[in-house]
Amino acid sequence: MNQEELFKNIISHSKEYGFIFQSSEIYDGLSAVYDYGQMGAELKKNLREFWWKSMVQMHQNIVGIDSAIFMHPTTWKASGHVDAFNDPLIDNKDSKKRYRADVLIEDHIAKILAKADKEVEKAAKKFGETFDEALYRQTNGRVVEYTSKAAEIENRFKTALENNQLEEVRNIIIDCEIVCPISGTKNWTEVRQFNLMFSTQMGSVSEDAGTIYLRPETAQGIFVNFLNVQKTGRMKIPFGIAQTGKAFRNEIVARQFIFRMREFEQMEMQFFVRPGTEAQWYTYWKTTRMKWHQALGFGENKYKFHDHLKLAHYAKDACDIEFEFPFGFKELEGIHSRSDFDLKQHEIHSGKKLQYFDPELNESYVPYVVETSIGLDRLFLAVMSQAYREEKLEDGSSRVVLGLPFALAPIKVAILPLVNKDGLPEKAEELVNLLKFDYNVSTEAKDAIGKRYRRMDAIGTPYCITVDYETLETNTVTLRNRDTMAQERVKVENLKSILAGELSIATLLEKC
Ligand code: GAP
Repeated sequence: MNQEELFKNIISHSKEYGFIFQSSEIYDGLSAVYDYGQMGAELKKNLREFWWKSMVQMHQNIVGIDSAIFMHPTTWKASGHVDAFNDPLIDNKDSKKRYRADVLIEDHIAKILAKADKEVEKAAKKFGETFDEALYRQTNGRVVEYTSKAAEIENRFKTALENNQLEEVRNIIIDCEIVCPISGTKNWTEVRQFNLMFSTQMGSVSEDAGTIYLRPETAQGIFVNFLNVQKTGRMKIPFGIAQTGKAFRNEIVARQFIFRMREFEQMEMQFFVRPGTEAQWYTYWKTTRMKWHQALGFGENKYKFHDHLKLAHYAKDACDIEFEFPFGFKELEGIHSRSDFDLKQHEIHSGKKLQYFDPELNESYVPYVVETSIGLDRLFLAVMSQAYREEKLEDGSSRVVLGLPFALAPIKVAILPLVNKDGLPEKAEELVNLLKFDYNVSTEAKDAIGKRYRRMDAIGTPYCITVDYETLETNTVTLRNRDTMAQERVKVENLKSILAGELSIATLLEKC
């Protein structure tokens, strides 16, 4: 199965088993908006809990808040989003399709670099073990030509963006002979900036109503509450404020399922530090966040850092943690050293001091901020992509397993009466009542036991407990492990202690 097929299978599996549905599907859906079904909502909640606990419960100097989606409109003027939260757009006059100009150029650069990689791949095959890739990349004529061409376009593009030269961005598209994938022509419009914020009106009478925005990031809710939290929580620098919540962006190129959505959820933490220490904290959070991802056990090689080419309007230093999705390495989380930009801007626009008195230095200052920001939906997609597997079994049959870390599984234990009669369903119900205080459990009596096991494998349930006739006599059950499919007979009175620990978020937190 190639990566494209894998991705398609993940999307259809997500729908078939109640993880993700297209929003308003009965009306043919709403583009780039999705709903989480009965399994998806549980998995998403568990991912959120893993993040929240790793931030708030595991750090004595980080607290969590829950700020409103609607904020005073000046917030977005201060943060720079009204003026600078734009995407450069271009239309093809023949197909009437709209594109992000930066994406067209970046894809073009990626294609050139892919040609260089292909040359290297061919040479590696030809020369075998003696192949020196670094030397080959430096000396092979064709590879050097491709890589310098890519670097030249990249530099030209970076300069154009930094200086907001939209005409030059268009010239790059023309000079690179980039064509519209639909019409195949180079008949492009001018490039213009498009603001990504959604706006709405607040107030009941239209004349009085003011334009407000749906927040494009949760971070600003933290900044405007910086002093409230610092004073009421008696927080001492360095300290962090975390929150999870919805964010909204009118994305133009919304694609790849839940990777880029118009309504999504962020999990952000702003860490307030003494000016001059931000570089050290930036490094600390890079390491800490990478370790958090790796605690999921998907393998170190699935993640890499990517330093930003073009820094956002607020950033001093910024990188992404990229994950290898089925469509390649892409941003999963951003780590940004935001300097004192946001707090200073809010001081200017609100006229209020947003400073911290540092008793050790005996002076007040506007703290610097290091931010970690991850999209919960993107994390969900990363986890689904990695967990989904199709297995051939020894008896020639096959199964789909969602190999989720046990602690994240939507249902932790399925309790299955072997047959739907003779007192077995009642015994199963008894076990549900025993375990439901600790775990999300489910019981199911319909279909052959093998079929029920398969359904549980497909939603990632770590354990199936089968209640059979022997259970009624000896008060024992079989316990089946999702991954090994091994079954062991255990006493009902030992169930709680056997399951304890393995299914808890603590197993992940201990690895962070
Ligand atoms: N406060 C900083 C900030 O918002 P960002 O890089 O724009 O930074 C952070 O967004 C994270 O939010 C991204 O790494 C990604 O995981 C997620 N994200 C951003 N836009 C998204 C979208 N349209 N759909 C899904 N997730 C998105």
